[in-house]
Amino acid sequence: MNNIESIRSLFYKFERPPFKAKNRFVRSATWLGGADDETGELSVAEIKRHSEIAAGGAGTLITGLAYISKEGKSFKREWGLHSDERINDVTMLSEEVHKYGSNLIVQLCHGGGQRDASLAGETVSFSPSGGIHPMCDFETRPLSSDDIRKVASDFAAAALRAKKGGADGVEIHGGHGFLLTQFLSPSINKRDDIYGGTFENRSRIFREILDEVRAAVGPDFSVWFKISMAEGTEGGYGAKEGTALSETLLERGADGIDVSCGTSYAGALNSPAVLGVSAGESEAPFREYSKEIKKYASDKQLVILTGGLRSLPVMAGLIEDGVCDLLAMSRPFIAEPDLINRWIEEDSRPTACISCNACFKTAKFGLIDCPILRDRNEGNWDPL
Ligand SMILES: Cc1cc2nc3c(=O)[nH]c(=O)nc-3n(C[C@H](O)[C@H](O)[C@H](O)COP(=O)(O)O)c2cc1C
Repeated sequence: MNNIESIRSLFYKFERPPFKAKNRFVRSATWLGGADDETGELSVAEIKRHSEIAAGGAGTLITGLAYISKEGKSFKREWGLHSDERINDVTMLSEEVHKYGSNLIVQLCHGGGQRDASLAGETVSFSPSGGIHPMCDFETRPLSSDDIRKVASDFAAAALRAKKGGADGVEIHGGHGFLLTQFLSPSINKRDDIYGGTFENRSRIFREILDEVRAAVGPDFSVWFKISMAEGTEGGYGAKEGTALSETLLERGADGIDVSCGTSYAGALNSPAVLGVSAGESEAPFREYSKEIKKYASDKQLVILTGGLRSLPVMAGLIEDGVCDLLAMSRPFIAEPDLINRWIEEDSRPTACISCNACFKTAKFGLIDCPILRDRNEGNWDPL
């Protein structure tokens, strides 16, 4: 295939039954910071943001992280899928997203010891072995084995809610430093039972969650895991374990691995949202991990590459080279919800996103914003 043809093919229908998408582009999970703090209810503004991205051409949307239990909440104004009352949020989201022929994948998360300081005292905070977590300045309690069973059944119950609400699948957040990463981390997880010590033990909770979620949702509902291939800290786990974990999950029946890297506490250089990444040389920093994971995926399973994807020629090359099946972006869709349609309509220049991470800072104060998006909305943005 020449480059033009391989770029064009990114926009063609993609099928890996039961998964089908109108193209290869995915909106990567993005916390929007607009939900109700008391109830976890998604706001109308957040639903609108999803709708704009679907209308803008993305084939699949992964929601921002939703907490599976009150104690699993990580951020202020995070969406919750911890109770049946919230099924209606999924219904509204999936109706909006399906209207445009796109898929909806709901991301589920337990923050563990990674909690915003403002949540101190709201509910008890847990982590694998207690203490103070790098991204949380208050004490956490170690999870008992009953608590761990509850985490697995909370993931399963939330996944079932996503299914009942009409979503096309779920993504279990296993990366970026949240509870599951904390279990995998040899520097954070100091347990001396079957959940700590060896890699086999530190990764046990992932397998248990997969089994419970699968039992709850059945075989034809997509179950993906987002994995940070390396923790990015001194003493943390590296790519060997990130890859081995992904391989195990694929062998055990996960439908997809969303390849990411780094953690929130690893510093700017090892952050999943790489600062200043731009089209060309610095693009797709996690491609080698993804290429490795592809070796373990069957022709029914998906490898989704996330992180620093910015331009069509590079993305076409990734698919051509067999690095991944789907191409996920977060910050580009914050800046340009209609990015895919812009590309389809022949303005094929890279995303306008400059990966400045201003979006992160705004989400701490309310619904996420972006200087580029704001300029565009105010008519102050000259695309040329
Ligand atoms: C504002 C913001 C919120 C995010 N929220 C989530 C989230 O809820 N779940 C998640 O897995 N990743 C989240 N991420 C990380 C992205 O999904 C993605 O892994 C990372 O930004 C790299 O992709 P990009 O270079 O296309 O932005 C967030 C990133 C940003 C910038």
